[in-house]
Amino acid sequence: MATGQLATQYKAWKQLEQLHASKASKLVLKDLFAADPERFNKLSVEFKTAKPDVSILLDYSKNLVDEEVLSSLFALAREAEVEKFRDEMFAGQHINTSEDRSVLHIALRNPPVSQGGYDIKEEGVNEVQGVLNHMKEFSESIRSGAWKGYTGKAIDTVVNIGIGGSDLGPVMVTEALKHYSDRKLTLHFVSNIDGTDMAETVRVCNPETTLFIVASKTFTTQETITNAESAKAWFLETAKDPAHVAKHFVALSTNTEGVTAFGIAEANMFQFWDWVGGRYSLWSAIGLSIAISIGFDNFQELLNGAHEMDQHFKTAKLEENLPVILALVGVWYNDFYGAQTQALLPYDQYLHKFADYFQQGDMESNGKTVTKDGSRVDYQTGPIIWGQSGTNGQHAFYQLIHQGTKLIPCDFLAPVQTLNPIANGKHHEILLSNFFAQPEALAFGKTEAEVVKELGAQSSNAALVKSKIFEGNKPTNSIMFQKLTPGTLGALIALYEHKIHVQGAIWGINSYDQMGVELGKVLAKAILKQLPSPADVTGHDSSTTGLIHFYQKHRA
Ligand code: F6P
Repeated sequence: MATGQLATQYKAWKQLEQLHASKASKLVLKDLFAADPERFNKLSVEFKTAKPDVSILLDYSKNLVDEEVLSSLFALAREAEVEKFRDEMFAGQHINTSEDRSVLHIALRNPPVSQGGYDIKEEGVNEVQGVLNHMKEFSESIRSGAWKGYTGKAIDTVVNIGIGGSDLGPVMVTEALKHYSDRKLTLHFVSNIDGTDMAETVRVCNPETTLFIVASKTFTTQETITNAESAKAWFLETAKDPAHVAKHFVALSTNTEGVTAFGIAEANMFQFWDWVGGRYSLWSAIGLSIAISIGFDNFQELLNGAHEMDQHFKTAKLEENLPVILALVGVWYNDFYGAQTQALLPYDQYLHKFADYFQQGDMESNGKTVTKDGSRVDYQTGPIIWGQSGTNGQHAFYQLIHQGTKLIPCDFLAPVQTLNPIANGKHHEILLSNFFAQPEALAFGKTEAEVVKELGAQSSNAALVKSKIFEGNKPTNSIMFQKLTPGTLGALIALYEHKIHVQGAIWGINSYDQMGVELGKVLAKAILKQLPSPADVTGHDSSTTGLIHFYQKHRA
């Protein structure tokens, strides 16, 4: 089992500290590129599959690294036993130690052993194909119109009710793969307990033709169960007979009892297992809305693409392993340069939810302060993940990335080919010119001499000159993929999942539990009981008590 050791104890960590102290000021991208015309060739790696459409180029040459830094980073990965920890995940060992669970989302995109799948002995793994068959059959019956609502009409609207991993994955992927979607079907996602979310959704739904998918691993999540109850009440206002619920509600869960208690028959339940983490669950039954939207064959392609990346992660040597490289350069900035955040900037409108998705994926996984064996870390763990699609971000927050005081490592992502080549591809060429320009500008900046030359007579204004200087030397990764197919998206998501895994291994933390979301949930439940009367409000600090009293005084 991976060590859970404090990362600062590793020899390579100490080496990296020394390297940062002795040479950070000398790691200047302009000089590094000038000194080595082969830098791009040396520091870029291609992930290829048998399908030409499913390929990814990672260019990590615009990072503040040289050979010495890189070899210490790879040494760190070896010392932290990243390969062993990876193999333990693939073997189904209980690497989620606090919950004593295996971590097997990789088994959900696992073809038969004879076709390169893994032989994993864990309860439920041999049921994966059965659930996939159920998803295929059901999604096809919705798409074809064979599944009828209680008045005999076909379904034209699907509402996924879930939150966190039971929402973000389906939202992100259905948006990303909208190009492949059946436009006759309208999809909605209700997640927030704020009644506005449900109220605004059902306003545009017809109970006769709407299918509700209640997505909850535990089937105890307050937001989801409350939203599902409200959806059922709304449905029954028109449908009247509870027997009609069977035609309009299905559940995706590990909790059969909870599902049946809610009133959804087991036959309308799509099972998954406790070894599927919430934020790694889009590959499971949680992906039902995806299969309905893009069709089961495309959903299978998504799984296949992720499996290809799993194979790459499992077999490529560390120096050529995309998730490992992304993880290591991330550790370099996070732990040695003191970078607090990491921006994900996809130059593909379809990926506009990608950063939101990995906000949960990364921050819920690696936002931890104790190692697996309970020691408090004396270094930084998970970065703050944020971002949005280019070029919108350029007109919002790039100013700070270029000229602000903070170091923000950025990942730029873009497709070689667009799925919408409107105006003879002009839009795409403009988009890509921006995708190429931004990392270049961030890396190489603009000197005072260049600004003076550019300003001509106006350069006597010293303040103006200073304001136009770009210091440069801002690190980026550039990721290009052929085009946004289901397979490519699967591979991209798996790439970032495994990056998170590697970083968690290096930091010695458990990336697969999420204890940090519990406390607020427990307090909210206690407070809910106190809201009816000011006399009930006890046990809080003066601020919390004051706020609750203010609400109680002013509510209608
Ligand atoms: O936010 C906490 C969390 O447990 C996530 O990990 C999970 O994705 C989400 O809640 C939803 O949980 P469930 O699928 O059990 O409703």
